[in-house]
Amino acid sequence: MRMAKTSSVVREDAELIVTQMGDELKQLSGTTMLVTGSGGFLLSYLLDVVAQFNDSGIGEPCRVVAVDNFISGVPERLEHLSNRSDMEFVVHDVTKPLKVNQRIDWVIHGASIASPTFYRAFPLETIAVNTDGTRHMLELARQGAGSMLYLSTSEIYGDPSVVPTPEEYFGNVSCTGPRACYDESKRLAETLCMTYYRLYGLPVKIVRPFNVYGPGQRLDDKRIMPDLMSAALDGEPLVLFSNGTATRSFCYVRDAIKAMLFVLLSSANGESFNVGNDQEEISIAELAERISKVAAPPRLPVKYLTSSDVHYLTDNPQRRCPELHKLKALAPWQPEVELDEGLARTLASYRELAAEAVVCK
Ligand SMILES: NC(=O)c1ccc[n+]([C@@H]2O[C@H](COP(=O)([O-])OP(=O)(O)OC[C@H]3O[C@@H](n4cnc5c(N)ncnc54)[C@H](O)[C@@H]3O)[C@@H](O)[C@H]2O)c1
Repeated sequence: MRMAKTSSVVREDAELIVTQMGDELKQLSGTTMLVTGSGGFLLSYLLDVVAQFNDSGIGEPCRVVAVDNFISGVPERLEHLSNRSDMEFVVHDVTKPLKVNQRIDWVIHGASIASPTFYRAFPLETIAVNTDGTRHMLELARQGAGSMLYLSTSEIYGDPSVVPTPEEYFGNVSCTGPRACYDESKRLAETLCMTYYRLYGLPVKIVRPFNVYGPGQRLDDKRIMPDLMSAALDGEPLVLFSNGTATRSFCYVRDAIKAMLFVLLSSANGESFNVGNDQEEISIAELAERISKVAAPPRLPVKYLTSSDVHYLTDNPQRRCPELHKLKALAPWQPEVELDEGLARTLASYRELAAEAVVCK
């Protein structure tokens, strides 16, 4: 069950973003944007937002070159955009150099293997996309004299000694554990970005997303939110492979994408920004209860089991919550979507797509 296309919830979100950010988005008018990881959760959603901007008539269309090798992304997620004249889709592994025969104004580099289950299964591919892939995208931005936005991760902080975690905290990450392939290569990717900024003056910005969720995430992605959503949609018990005490603060995708666009379109070159929601830090046990309540009736039981994957919890941070002062000082932004609303929107989106699949049979 991969189900990751688009839905009326995503279209509504995209319209709202374009309405709220119309003035800032005019900077995209008549430009070309290269997006890596475009078949994944966050950046396929971004493509829907750019499509909405282009259809709104606010400015000249922004041309998009969308790049993915679909190692974990879903081509079906982009099907509804495939006939657009303003978007070009390229199947390419960004660990190899990419030739583009046009001027690129913006590079948004989000290609990675982001789910712990998958990056532990593909550690070398994960290291390669975060390091070689990032280097190639920095070169491309440099040659085209464009700006680059790099999607790093909150996981570069590891288990924080400071909660909420500010950008000034340098992290506490194992360089040898099973998550190191992701955490350490993301850290090196940030070093590469800053090196290009210092050596060549490349206008590069970094965002560090904290537990973003919402419509469009693969249900078999193996991160906690899709796992619980998937069970809720099937009316099955919500299974936790932990004691549920670790805490997270979950950020609805609309808030995260708005924040990323504000950072991209700002002049904050050579800076990193946490992106997330600082309003509601909750335990994983409470998250399961909230999903059960939002998906109800009937109320689904929460079960506590032990994963057959011995490294399921190794180096998993006990707390994760962003400090967002830097982002809030940069832009007129704050997280707007409360957890219950975001959960309801996400479930509604999955249900709409499931119903369409039944109708199509
Ligand atoms: N969603 C979150 O909460 C979150 C949290 C922290 C960091 N991030 C970062 O944000 C970015 C996007 O995250 P996401 O949740 O959309 O992940 P995702 O797994 O849904 O999307 C990543 C995409 O990158 C593609 N990809 C991987 N290796 C590639 C390669 N070598 N060449 C071309 N494409 C490749 C995958 O096929 C996939 O479509 C990632 O860099 C991730 O590390 C996301």
